[in-house]
Amino acid sequence: MSQSPTLQDLYRAITPDLAGVESEIVGALHSETPEIAEMAACASGHGGKRMRPAMVLLVARAAGAAVPAHTRLAAVVEMIHLATLVHDDVIDDADLRRKRRTVKARWNRHDAVLLGDIIFARAIRLLASMSDERSMVTLTSALSTVCEGEILQNRRSHDPTLSEATYYRIIDAKTAELYARGCELAAWLANCDQGKVGAFGVFGRELGLAFQITDDVLDLVGDESEVGKSLGTDLVGGKMTLPLILLRQRLEDQPRGTFDRVITEGVVNEDDVFAIGDLLRRHQVLDDALTRARDHVNAGLSAVRAAVDDDAYAPLDALGGFVLSRTL
Ligand code: IPE
Ligand code: IPE
Ligand code: MG
Ligand code: MG
Repeated sequence: MSQSPTLQDLYRAITPDLAGVESEIVGALHSETPEIAEMAACASGHGGKRMRPAMVLLVARAAGAAVPAHTRLAAVVEMIHLATLVHDDVIDDADLRRKRRTVKARWNRHDAVLLGDIIFARAIRLLASMSDERSMVTLTSALSTVCEGEILQNRRSHDPTLSEATYYRIIDAKTAELYARGCELAAWLANCDQGKVGAFGVFGRELGLAFQITDDVLDLVGDESEVGKSLGTDLVGGKMTLPLILLRQRLEDQPRGTFDRVITEGVVNEDDVFAIGDLLRRHQVLDDALTRARDHVNAGLSAVRAAVDDDAYAPLDALGGFVLSRTL
């Protein structure tokens, strides 16, 4: 697998296509009302990694037949993601996103909920314009699944005994589903047979799982100015992410009092953050979580290895390398 590629390296071959995706998004979010236009620009503007549209476009190429519909599909997938971020920042009470103040911080929670709804509506309108029933059914179902994942996560927050199985159910729904369905549809629009469509779906799902695991590591030890979004919100929200689940397993023979209190109550002071950080490092669970992420990337790459030639495989491999080495 490629080591530490930058986003620029990854996107070189698809730069014009990504510019087309941006135009689709700008057009779809256009508003004659200055207040709405300003909020939409804040939510969709620069600074996002554009990972999901890039994956759609790279899979389209790997599948052998990039067509104009792929640009629209990529825009719809990114817009669904955008809307979930606007809502997620309300749920997580986060003030920073893409190196700027979040919609809920710059305006207020009520308007952030409504703007997220507008972005969802515009995404569905763009999706309808594709006149492809499979894309419509697949992406509206995926959107529902993403929201179900967020609800499940909320219901299970502040539970230090959360199982790995439940954690995986949550991240599979809230994150991997959109990756999986985007890749699957990219292959479908490229006229792949069912076997290949399924293989690209597995690729997307496994990369999505790895992406959320690395996100969960960054939330604990990332550099906020580099990642560009509020970090530490998982602890505050009592979310048991994979590094924390692995840590609690390691604490088997030791008192779990502090740990369980932090998760149950949410972090209340700097000492708690320091104590958890210290435990994470001493028990080396961050490395273990990243090994897990690596396993998922490898599983995703194996699923597509036989389906694509070497030239088409290289960018997918590089994407996997980025997901594992990312610091943003
Ligand atoms: C953030 O996704 C939400 C997660 C699923 C972890 P990204 O890290 O892809 O966010 P942007 O699009 O780059 O801002
Ligand atoms: C949210 O997960 C994933 C979504 C579906 C929006 P996180 O809460 O970890 O995402 P970030 O860290 O705020 O980007
Ligand atoms: Mg969040
Ligand atoms: Mg996160």
